[in-house]
Amino acid sequence: MSVIFSGIQPSGTLTLGNYLGALKHFVDLQEDHHCYFCIVDEHAITMPQDRLKLRDNIRSLAALYLAVGIDPRKSTLFIQSEVPAHTQLGWMLQSISYIGELERMTQFKDKSQGGRDGVSSGLLTYPPLMAADILLYQTETVPVGEDQKQHLELTRTLAERFNNKYNNIFTVPEVSIPTTGARIMSLQKPDKKMSKSDANTKAFISMLDAPDTIRKKIRSAVTDSEGIVEFDPDNKPGISNLLTIYSVCTGRSPEELTNAYHGQGYGDFKADVGEAVVEVLSPIQEKYHELLHSEELDLILDEGAGKANVSAEKTLKKAKKAMGLGRVHQKRK
Ligand code: AMP
Ligand code: TRP
Repeated sequence: MSVIFSGIQPSGTLTLGNYLGALKHFVDLQEDHHCYFCIVDEHAITMPQDRLKLRDNIRSLAALYLAVGIDPRKSTLFIQSEVPAHTQLGWMLQSISYIGELERMTQFKDKSQGGRDGVSSGLLTYPPLMAADILLYQTETVPVGEDQKQHLELTRTLAERFNNKYNNIFTVPEVSIPTTGARIMSLQKPDKKMSKSDANTKAFISMLDAPDTIRKKIRSAVTDSEGIVEFDPDNKPGISNLLTIYSVCTGRSPEELTNAYHGQGYGDFKADVGEAVVEVLSPIQEKYHELLHSEELDLILDEGAGKANVSAEKTLKKAKKAMGLGRVHQKRK
């Protein structure tokens, strides 16, 4: 079984974009792969966090992973900071990363736009930590949204650089980007990605939004004045985004949906998209609330950290040896 690794930051409640672009695929993948799903709290602290909120977000994300159908008997679900090898290998990979290549990462450029003095250096050295997450488990495939492609390319570069320079320790991972729903756009600015950190809460659907909130947000989604339901992301980004959401929620193709709403305007279409989203999210929310404060959740995370530590330590040991860190014990004469 091939190894899959993916991570999500516990920085605010996940959106429908996270679900359709990432989590939903994870559930399918665990059937025939060895999956590691990680709550990357050490990545989250590269941006300012309130400590109590961060704690809540970590637990909440763990409950959400399970609520969408991640099965702890099939997958390893764990918290990054509970497996020390991540920051250890992260540091080692930082030491073979170049400042120039890190500064070229679009995510760094976007997040440091407001000037450098107030930006943590962790934001710059984030990609080698992400590479460590992935490489510790000899990961073959990393399913992520399109926005993470550049980080994955750097991960491959770092793996190859390490392998060539020291010893052939790391599997060079492939990226896997889902073909539909890869990029769910903002409901208010459909040329921008739907993001949980958007200041305008009408721009995203949180996975924990109440049904009426979901319906309202879809109803007020920005579209255009043509009144024709058509899939044309360049000229009709709003409607195309709703079609993508509808399609991924129901499994019906955008073509089939376009035909079904031919000549009908946007009112009924939006109402039906809203219902489709509610139908997908309601059962997830129910399960989530059952798990959130349960002891079961702690047991699952303890077991996950235990399993992850064993695999991660194995790789870390090899990588340290390859780099010449630490010492070799002398045999007693
Ligand atoms: P983030 O919320 O940025 O930590 O992303 C967590 C995962 O969800 C990553 O795999 C992202 O690429 C994916 N993701 C985040 N936002 C979206 C979106 N709007 N559409 C599709 N995938 C997304
Ligand atoms: N950087 C990813 C994001 O912001 C999160 C992440 C951290 C990740 N480590 C990872 C994703 C390893 C995949 C694999 O979405």
